[in-house]
Amino acid sequence: MTITTPSDLARLADLAARSVTLIESLQHEGGAYPASPTFSAYQGYSWFRDGAFIADGMSAAGAVDSASRFFDWCGRMLAQRRDRIAEIVAAEAAGTPLPDERMLATRFTFDGEEGDDEWWDFQTDGYGTWVWACIAHAERHGLSLDRWAEGIRLSVDYLLATWSRPCYDWWEEHRDEVHVSTLGCVIAGFESAARAEVLEPAARAAARTAAIEARTLIAGRGVRDGHLAKWLGSTAVDGSLSAVIAPLGVFEAASPLARATIRAVEAQLSVDGGVHRYLLDTFFGGGQWPILSCFLGLAHARAGDRDAAMRLLRWAAGTETAEGLLPEQVDDHLLAPDRHAEWVERWGPVATPLLWSHAMFVRLAVELDMLQPAGVRA
Ligand code: BGC
Repeated sequence: MTITTPSDLARLADLAARSVTLIESLQHEGGAYPASPTFSAYQGYSWFRDGAFIADGMSAAGAVDSASRFFDWCGRMLAQRRDRIAEIVAAEAAGTPLPDERMLATRFTFDGEEGDDEWWDFQTDGYGTWVWACIAHAERHGLSLDRWAEGIRLSVDYLLATWSRPCYDWWEEHRDEVHVSTLGCVIAGFESAARAEVLEPAARAAARTAAIEARTLIAGRGVRDGHLAKWLGSTAVDGSLSAVIAPLGVFEAASPLARATIRAVEAQLSVDGGVHRYLLDTFFGGGQWPILSCFLGLAHARAGDRDAAMRLLRWAAGTETAEGLLPEQVDDHLLAPDRHAEWVERWGPVATPLLWSHAMFVRLAVELDMLQPAGVRA
């Protein structure tokens, strides 16, 4: 059992409160959350994936307006691409699907452009995650979904046409695989949208059917040794799989499948509470990611193990820099130490702060009742 003193708790709560303020202060006036304000390769861009989880953390912490404004931004990104989505849907229906290069981007500039830098762009997870986060936000705070209904409908249309295609994963890698975490995000989006009464009856039925098909795919080829696997047919685990258990809630935390997944992530990827992405990771030498410790903590908390969750929260807090910032990853334990320098040379020091790290810290702190949601804060 972890002994947590009152001053420890106050320190953790303080970091969570400062994280909310930091995220609010860095949010673009148009609603986008920068992935990292200073990191070379991320500067100027907002990701649907990072942003959806950031908004979920902010919503859970009671920063209602901040989360709503991010979802407004998502809605605008989608509405501006209405014609492209229609083209993608029509091509798919005609049996002549468009190539990956014609799919929607993964990240956008704050003003809504694709930007000039090449990126690993076809990733479906963010389009499911924002739908899930937006609907969870509306349900949590009793808000009408009218404001986001068009964006949700467009996302569902886009995902119905694309969800089963191989695409880049959360880490923007392995484009030839179908990733279980990605499917989890898409299922969460489909099931939330089908429940929320924003879809036309046909789209609602299609979303339900697609969610069932995706669940069937996972059950058939996305489970290995009783736990979720990194991609269909893989034997490995990935730290992102914790998120499918919590906060996404696609698999019941108490189920044997979720418990085995938590155990596998703990056993294979966690070193003293710092969680790696996957065993063959070489990005910045393959360090430990605060977001993944927090996702694992959320999964533990949902499964009833608050002690384990608290240990993971404390590990994440331990990555705070002298300036009070949380990084994307730390290099205390590297899986591929000889690959660290090449990334520093290419992109500079690790992204710090990473807003997603701060947000996941907040999300877990709320789950552990350490940061009382401030009610409905404008
Ligand atoms: C990570 C992505 C993330 C992006 C922005 C990438 O290095 O692999 O998951 O969305 O950074 O934070």
